Amino acid sequence: MIVSNMISKIHGEIKVPGDKSISHRSILLGSISKGKTEITNFLKGDDCLSTIACCRKLGIKIEEKDNKISVYGNGALALKEPEDILNVGNSGTTIRLLSGILAGQEFLSIITGDSSIKKRPMARITTPLKEMGTTIDGREDGRLAPLCIRGGGLKAINYKLPVSSAQVKSAILLAGLYADGITRVIDASQSRDHTERMLKAFGGQIDIVDNTISIKKSDLYGQAIEIPGDISSAAFFMVAAAAVPGATLKILKVGINKTRTGIIDVLKKMGAAIEIDNVYISGGEEIGDIIINGGKLFGTTIGKEIIPRLIDEIPIIAVAAALAEGKTTITGAQELKYKESNRIAAIVTEMKKLGIKISELPDGLEIEGPSIIKGGKVDSHGDHRIAMAMAICGLFTDEKVEILNSACISTSFPTFEETLKAISL
Ligand code: S3P
Repeated sequence: MIVSNMISKIHGEIKVPGDKSISHRSILLGSISKGKTEITNFLKGDDCLSTIACCRKLGIKIEEKDNKISVYGNGALALKEPEDILNVGNSGTTIRLLSGILAGQEFLSIITGDSSIKKRPMARITTPLKEMGTTIDGREDGRLAPLCIRGGGLKAINYKLPVSSAQVKSAILLAGLYADGITRVIDASQSRDHTERMLKAFGGQIDIVDNTISIKKSDLYGQAIEIPGDISSAAFFMVAAAAVPGATLKILKVGINKTRTGIIDVLKKMGAAIEIDNVYISGGEEIGDIIINGGKLFGTTIGKEIIPRLIDEIPIIAVAAALAEGKTTITGAQELKYKESNRIAAIVTEMKKLGIKISELPDGLEIEGPSIIKGGKVDSHGDHRIAMAMAICGLFTDEKVEILNSACISTSFPTFEETLKAISL
């Protein structure tokens, strides 16, 4: 993909595809519920399609018609032993959340993914799931995929998450649906809570007090779900608009769950004018239009407490920092090393190629702005969010920015290139 266009104005309205996290959960919960779950605005990105493929291999009927996805569940124990290996592709959410469900099934499953998935840490789920009584193993003593799971006979545990992670929290809560007793998960700080909200909407017996979530065996019932637009996808265009003086951009029907809106807080702190309009609630999730008025941005500091609320937005926040006046420091973000790529290393390597003054910290980044962004060839490291962040850099230079290996963008935002063209006319 090549972007070459010094953007001088952005004006208009866009829509971004459905939220990736909520799309995964709608298929997974639908698959273990009784009755039909009907999903609108489902994200047809590669990751969520992998979740559908895995659930189909587990015997669940999933149909697509008139832009709606219907999942026909038959209850928590109606999944069938898969004939073959379950392949999650590039999707960390699928392998971690689905393993929680498989821990409750008395059959054998083997689950794996692409070369990036096979490098990502899995002990964070295999350790608590083993503690609950499931038989689970993997390469390097259960630290790496492929994972081999023979579930069943689970007992409840109290588990304090060593690192704040919605994927790990969700894996334990889903296993908790199959365990005898009350399973409690204590999160270090509040990570995204879509699993909790959706479990409640499906009839799950779940209780939340501060950062402690308790769950017990419960029957879930299929629901109609409207997936909000993904704020993590909207973030690329929020930053582009925020950095162009005089720009006005409205992004329609975006999920604004407070566990995900760290990007709004940070851009406001950097000087951007952002408003939210037309707010409503659907399936327990807040949805609204985000309106961004561009202006001058200033450097900021981003620390540990806010990281879980913007973990996926750091690549694009680094771009905002490069365009802002002054220094931006991001710390407490070591989890970025374990994403689809080592995002700290990838951001620094690729942004330096475009002349951006950026350096690596042990747990984050330091960016000196404003940088004069120049053209060049950059690589995505197979990571969708790195590819899209680099494409936005291309809007702020007269020279060509060529993004190698950009096909991975379809992981979360298959219509990214069209949207980019639409705003940069
Ligand atoms: C996700 C949680 C986050 C996030 C990922 C999606 C989810 O990961 O980075 O893209 O859907 O639960 P962690 O929970 O591991 O931080």
